[in-house]
Amino acid sequence: MARIFSGIQPTGTGTLGNYLGALRNWAAMQQGEDECVYCLVDMHAITTFQDPATLREQTYGMAALTLACGIDPERSILFHQSAVSAHARLAWIFNCVARMGWLKRMTQFKDKAGKNQEEVSTGLFVYPNLMAADIHAYHATKVPVGDDQLQHIELANDIAEKFNHDFGMSFFPRIEPFVLKETARVMSLRDGTKKMSKSDPSDQSRINMTDDADMIAQKIRKAKTDPEPLPDNLAALAERPEARNLLGIFAAVSGESQEALLARFAGSGFGPFKNALADALVAHVEPIANRTRDYLADKAELDRILQAGARKAAAIAGPIADEAERIVGFLPR
Ligand code: AMP
Ligand code: TRP
Repeated sequence: MARIFSGIQPTGTGTLGNYLGALRNWAAMQQGEDECVYCLVDMHAITTFQDPATLREQTYGMAALTLACGIDPERSILFHQSAVSAHARLAWIFNCVARMGWLKRMTQFKDKAGKNQEEVSTGLFVYPNLMAADIHAYHATKVPVGDDQLQHIELANDIAEKFNHDFGMSFFPRIEPFVLKETARVMSLRDGTKKMSKSDPSDQSRINMTDDADMIAQKIRKAKTDPEPLPDNLAALAERPEARNLLGIFAAVSGESQEALLARFAGSGFGPFKNALADALVAHVEPIANRTRDYLADKAELDRILQAGARKAAAIAGPIADEAERIVGFLPR
């Protein structure tokens, strides 16, 4: 049995990108042999300022969405990061293992900080060290993520290797990322070259997993496309990122292959294609939105689930953090 770890930030409401790139795989991975540990990474969230009341609300929201997507707290461990101190303890050690030069190469930091590098929090800079601690605190070896996170996984492997090398042992195992090819990256509805994101200022750029049928239909109708009709083969979409993105989404939520969908819509403009896509999306998203609302109606129950998850998580991660502290030379706690 291996252990799977993944995390999602409780900022914004979850998008279709989070669902197709992460949550759907999380639910599917529970069906296998491996133990699944899923974390709402509130400590990562505060690397950019979060209004406290909003953070609390969105942590409940993301817990509810995760459950609504089929994560079963009896089968998987679901909890919020700040509730398990091993993450912070190991992250500190990793702050002292990772090199400045490694972190300076992280494209997500460069994207997020932009020209503002002197003004962003130091937490944003060491964010990947905390992410490495999340995974290594469980000796997890399989990590399902969207492809935007691959560089962080490589860094987590570099940190583990340096730790093992510096202290002359193989304490942290290698991590294998898992990326689902078809939906590795769901793009913005306004710009097919940009990732669909919770933090995009335009709500029109994304499908939220809480959007109702009218909202979904309206966003798909307005989604950016191009004037050409749909082609009959995938290769012809190489230079048409918006069309490719909508086709990828359609295939992912309908279960039909992209080829089969093109065969059906080839030669037609985007009108009929978008209508069918909106129907398929609504059929997929609406039941999840309804279940999310039901879970959110009982916060005491959400607290109970997360706290029970945190106890199980701490039982695994606590001893691993203890051992890492012993290895670096700290006295017993
Ligand atoms: P975040 O929203 O950054 O906390 O991401 C949580 C998870 O969702 C990570 O595994 C991301 O890689 C994945 N994810 C976020 N946005 C997208 C997207 N547009 N397409 C695919 N996966 C995504
Ligand atoms: N950084 C990830 C993201 O923004 C979230 C995350 C934090 C994570 N810790 C993790 C993902 C550990 C996988 C494993 O998407």
